[in-house]
Amino acid sequence: DASDIEKGTYPHYMLKEIDEQPFVMRRIIQKYQDENGQLTIDPQIIQEVLNADRLYIIACGTSYHAGLVGKQLIEKWAKIPVEVHVASEFSYNMPLLSEKPLFIYISQSGETADSRAVLVQTNKLGYKAITITNVPGSTLSREADYTLLLHAGPEIAVASTKAYTAQIAVLAILAVTTAKAKGIELDFDLVKELAITANVMEMLCDAKEEMEKIAREYLAATRNCFFIGRAVDYYVCLEGALKLKEISYIQAEGFAGGELKHGTIALIEDGTPVIALATQEHVNLNIRGNVKEVVARGANPCIISMRGLETDEDRFVIPAVHPMLTPLVSVVPLQLIAYYAALHRGCDVDKPRNLAKSVTVE
Ligand code: AGP
Repeated sequence: DASDIEKGTYPHYMLKEIDEQPFVMRRIIQKYQDENGQLTIDPQIIQEVLNADRLYIIACGTSYHAGLVGKQLIEKWAKIPVEVHVASEFSYNMPLLSEKPLFIYISQSGETADSRAVLVQTNKLGYKAITITNVPGSTLSREADYTLLLHAGPEIAVASTKAYTAQIAVLAILAVTTAKAKGIELDFDLVKELAITANVMEMLCDAKEEMEKIAREYLAATRNCFFIGRAVDYYVCLEGALKLKEISYIQAEGFAGGELKHGTIALIEDGTPVIALATQEHVNLNIRGNVKEVVARGANPCIISMRGLETDEDRFVIPAVHPMLTPLVSVVPLQLIAYYAALHRGCDVDKPRNLAKSVTVE
């Protein structure tokens, strides 16, 4: 049928969409470049961001996880405080807002009912809203004041992959263009750094055999799995765990490395897989300490680190990218590991049980 043709030679949409990520990265760079090769965003949007005293990112699931990374980028580069909220909580438990809030809705589909419920409320309150979406003309795009497109191409697999990395790239561009508009000097060129991440993504997409091996070794027979990381790695761990849960049905949790010992470490048994991300220099020793804590309780550790921070015990080393852009690359092994784990366990990768591609009920 038609969908088989679109899949081309790929067995699943998810694998095809994982592989499309380097291409999407390069397309985003192009789409957001002006004629001089400078990254640019609609000046009206930048003006709204500059007028705000605080940004509120509202999203669900994977888009929420991209929002967490976005907060880090906007706060570090553009120096504007950002709050990130799960839409379904925000709509019934709205926090005290700042004086001049600006809302950013992140939604691949642009049709998520939980996010729309919040947009309806903030529109009523008279606050301005930007939607970051993959679907032009979608409900969230039409009902917000402004739209930033992901240009990721249709995402068919229920498990979101290329939309996540596209969302982070667009948020990075928003952060950098806002910083420039504020006269903040940044010591890197985002076009160049994103181009490097695209190349590294490509290398990671070529590491399928290794990821398949990791999935088989650690996840073929396990009941549960933990992902630990610190700083931005923690946010990627949340996403890695969600991917694994949705398609392989393995109970998985993403944890801040330092938090496990405050309770959850009780779940570590002999052989429990713990996937640890170590891409952040300032917490590299800390996360390695956390790995030792779980290993002492019998965990089977799989450390994925970044070049320059690696040690002999690491299972996989990612080529180096800009330290703030590591989520764009560190998520790729986690996506592939989830994919192969699901495959090994005989799960329907593209259409996992109980899930819909876009959740149009609150
Ligand atoms: C991601 O793998 C999930 N299927 C899900 O969490 C999804 O990201 C969430 O429902 C939000 O969807 P949206 O981005 O289309 O709003």
